[in-house]
Order: sequence, then structure tokens, then C-alpha cells
Amino acid sequence: MQYITEHVLGKNIDRVLISEVEIDSAVRRIAEEIDNFSRQSGKNLLLLGILKGSVVFMGDLMKRIKTPVEIDFMKVSSYGSGAVSSGRINIILDLARKNLQDTDIVIIEDIIDSGRTLSYLVDYMKFNGANSVKTCTLLDKPSRRVVDLVPDFVGYEIPDEFVVGYGLDYAEQYRALPYIGVLKSEVYSK
Ligand code: IMP
Ligand code: MG
Repeated sequence: MQYITEHVLGKNIDRVLISEVEIDSAVRRIAEEIDNFSRQSGKNLLLLGILKGSVVFMGDLMKRIKTPVEIDFMKVSSYGSGAVSSGRINIILDLARKNLQDTDIVIIEDIIDSGRTLSYLVDYMKFNGANSVKTCTLLDKPSRRVVDLVPDFVGYEIPDEFVVGYGLDYAEQYRALPYIGVLKSEVYSK
């Protein structure tokens, strides 16, 4: 709770939804789940982070995974600068390696909202010949789903509120906050 007032942007946060301690326990649990999955599969493991929202989660998660991993990143756009989804997905940065036959891909997202981004990326990775494609997200808003997508590894299910911090932005701000906070609605309804 202290951070709300300590950080310059804390004045725009209504409340902390998920604390640093809660994030850390989800990260450790998911790392173990991914280790268990990968141990059974025995293939190469590639964590594919979706820029930019996943970077903080990805950095923490990869440190906790005990299986050898490679990492790669893609950047896609599905949102404009604000809080409203456009529904279209464009690839802005593609993954570097396309030889994926012996590789299990775990796509790492910050949050699943409509599910359009992840659903598109799962199809894209399968099309590129990955051995398997799993999905991992720190946050899930299942009530907002417009496509049929259930993530394989989930930190927390959250209600339909616009959240920021720990990688998640509003208009490119708030990503560096160490917790997940609910943005005051007057910030984006202005
Ligand atoms: P989807 O394709 O609708 O599932 O959108 C997922 C993307 O929307 C995420 O990777 C975020 O960039 C963005 N997004 C969705 N909800 C939020 C939120 O509450 N705060 C910040 N970004 C969000
Ligand atoms: Mg975003």
C-alpha cells in the first residue's frame, strides 16, 4: 500500500489489486507448472514474450524456471494508445527463429482480455510448425472473452477493471510500478 503514495504516479492508482508478494507467489507456482510440463515433454522450451506488457513478468518467470529455456519476443498491436480494443492484430516484430519442430513454445502474456491476441498467436505458432504451443498469462479477465481461449498457465483471474503496473500500461505509462493496481477511472475517461 505504501507504494501508492511513494511513486509519482501512485496518485492515479485507486487501489492495489495484486501486491508484489502475491505476484511473486504466482510466478513461482507458474514456473513449477512449466517445469513439470517441460519435463514430461522433453523437447526444447522456448518462452515467447509478447512485447511490451510481458517483459517484467517474463524476466521474473525465467529466473524461476529450472528447465533450460530459450527466449524470444514478438510485438503485436491489438490496442490503440488507450483502454479500448480495436480488435485487429498486426505483427510489428516477428520471432527470430522459425525452425520450431522440436520446440515447445510457451507464449507469455501480461493479461488476456478479449483473447484475440493470444488466439491469433497460438494459430500463428502452430502454422510455423511448433511441436506444441501453450499459453501463459499473469492476469486473466475471463468475463471479457470474445474468442474461445483458456490459458494453460494463469497467475490470477481478475474482474473487469482496467489495471496497470508490472509491465501493464495505460498510454505507455505505469509499466514500472512493482504491483498491479486499478487505475482511477477519471484518468482514462478524461
Ligand atoms: P486481448 O487481445 O483483448 O486479449 O488483449 C490483450 C492485450 O490488451 C494485453 O496484452 C494488454 O496489452 C491489453 N490490455 C487488456 N486489458 C488491459 C488492462 O486492464 N490494462 C492494460 N492493458 C490491458
Ligand atoms: Mg498495452
